[in-house]
Amino acid sequence: MRERIVTPGKVSEEEEIYIASLRPQRLAEYIGQRNLTEKLSVSIKAALQRGEPHEHVLLYGPPGLGKTTLAHILAHEMGTRLVVSSGPTLQRTGDLMGILTNLEQGDVLLIDEIHRLAAAVEEFIYPAMEDFKVDFVVDKGAFARVINVPLKKFTLVGATTRAGLISAPLRDRFGIIHHLDFYPAEELARIVKRSAGILEVGIAEEAAAEIARRSRGTPRVANRLLRRVRDYAQVKGQDQIDIAAVQDALELEGVDSVGLDALDRRLIKMMVDFYDGGPVGIESIAATLNEESDTLEEMVEPYLLKIGFLKRTSKGRLVGEPALRHLGFKLKGGRQQEFL
Ligand code: ADE
Repeated sequence: MRERIVTPGKVSEEEEIYIASLRPQRLAEYIGQRNLTEKLSVSIKAALQRGEPHEHVLLYGPPGLGKTTLAHILAHEMGTRLVVSSGPTLQRTGDLMGILTNLEQGDVLLIDEIHRLAAAVEEFIYPAMEDFKVDFVVDKGAFARVINVPLKKFTLVGATTRAGLISAPLRDRFGIIHHLDFYPAEELARIVKRSAGILEVGIAEEAAAEIARRSRGTPRVANRLLRRVRDYAQVKGQDQIDIAAVQDALELEGVDSVGLDALDRRLIKMMVDFYDGGPVGIESIAATLNEESDTLEEMVEPYLLKIGFLKRTSKGRLVGEPALRHLGFKLKGGRQQEFL
């Protein structure tokens, strides 16, 4: 898939630096996900009082909602280090062995995309999570021996966009399991204002609200749009971001009033033109658009489903009535009747 400003996944190194500069360090600075932050505030205090590492945490939900940020905050609040790894990079038990044996007491290990761990690595991690030891096999064939290696007590934070792909034995080993949902626009507007403050750029209240409305419920997208708008306002010689700067800058980016971009519009238009609004399977959609179905499922669909622009049925995806209204499309065949 080409680079999309509204795609929350896939972060370049350069963007990672930008994100890190805006990332809250403390739970008290974190905006939104109140239920989770209140739970974490209690569990962190309790662990600190007992002088123990925090229990393992599994966070799931669409990309860009703060899973990595929360792992950073957890380590910071516990006064320990964060070590970051990811499922696809841990393909052999030896890869994980090196990381686990280097952890200090209380360190937080974040495994992003934990649903993509190789099966052997996943089994290797069970005794590490439960008993803080690993059984490592050295040598092969007749010389194979199992060495039992004790580990320091650490905290695993598993992050995944696909909770359904986590096996039950792995899920059961997490003490806290939490789903991160899309952020309401008011919270995103607060995040935009906070970020603008850190970037030392002024922003009008309604400009922050407009960026928030176009950010697909996702802080990472909000901060990305803010960056584009800030550049635009600066080049136009404005010392404060106003609503016109947001509208003009985001029109240039092809991001419309509800945060759809060219790919979203192409997807919906294709479903209307070729499939009379569906139902159509995700594989057919992906093939027609020449995109990966996984990418569509993880990066494009979740927000469209959330706002009712798409519906998921057992027969496939359907275009929702709000999408037809927003884009001014009409269905040719019988389904249009459903919307009248
Ligand atoms: N930056 C990105 N996400 C944030 C959040 N939830 N709170 C504050 N700042 C953020």
